[in-house]
Amino acid sequence: MQRIQLTFRFIRFFFQATTQYGVHSPFVFEFAQKVLDDDRQFYAFSSLEILRDQLLADGQKIQVTDLGAGSQMKLGNSRSIKAIANSSLTTPLYCKMLFRIMQLYRPKSVLELGTSLGLSTLYLAQGAASAKIISLEGCPNIAKVAQKNFQTFKATNIDLRTGHFDQTLQKALADLSPLDFAFLDGNHRKAPSIDYFEQCLEHIHEQSILVFDDIHWSTEMEDAWEEIKAHPQVSLTIDLFFMGLVFFRSDFKVKQHFKLVPRTWKPWILGFFGK
Ligand SMILES: C[S@@+](CC[C@H](N)C(=O)[O-])C[C@H]1O[C@@H](n2cnc3c(N)ncnc32)[C@H](O)[C@@H]1O
Repeated sequence: MQRIQLTFRFIRFFFQATTQYGVHSPFVFEFAQKVLDDDRQFYAFSSLEILRDQLLADGQKIQVTDLGAGSQMKLGNSRSIKAIANSSLTTPLYCKMLFRIMQLYRPKSVLELGTSLGLSTLYLAQGAASAKIISLEGCPNIAKVAQKNFQTFKATNIDLRTGHFDQTLQKALADLSPLDFAFLDGNHRKAPSIDYFEQCLEHIHEQSILVFDDIHWSTEMEDAWEEIKAHPQVSLTIDLFFMGLVFFRSDFKVKQHFKLVPRTWKPWILGFFGK
């Protein structure tokens, strides 16, 4: 049922979205050109995609921690690494966008909520090699696998912290403050998403960027996204369907919201409208 709803949401998004050719803001045009439409294959991509393939084929089972409601944590079922990879990893397209966001905006302090097996963290770390990165994960056994992956890639700039976000987020924010960039890919519920957003707001500055994952995943995530967009401190948002970016720059005089797709996604629509 959720998949059918998601498909309908995607179709609606697709028809509302534009490409770099449909935006007049120089800032958003540069974003579309350099983040969505740059098809260069960086050296890091091939080794990280080999890691993805390995994780997707790894039948080893580990006991996962059920993060449940509130801040209770208890040991849940045993699951194979490949099942975890299948259900949680950010897709190659969006991981590469994260890498290019790092390359374009060069953040010095980076926070990730939801490490899982560490693949998106490694994309962030390879894109921003000199940044201080803190990644938070609630399940200690999943975190162990991520830590091993960080060692394999010699990603010494990642500080992986284990525990429920309710226990780890405040300290991580204090340690990173001022916060340049955050990727929020943990708890995909409305109330926690708003709570993490508000906590991040206390440590941001004008050039900070917050990225929310799965903003159209459910009605409550769409509600959370609308609430975030409406926040008075937010000056610009970019909706990429599976991710939403939030900017706070005061040089955007009027608040604007964009829905963007890579230019190669809809040449026939552009042709139809003569763009
Ligand atoms: C979607 S996965 C992250 C995927 C990862 N960013 C990637 O793309 O490779 C979400 C992770 O957040 C963790 N998580 C969810 N809710 C949490 C919470 N309240 N506290 C700590 N970790 C949490 C889960 O254990 C899971 O590993």
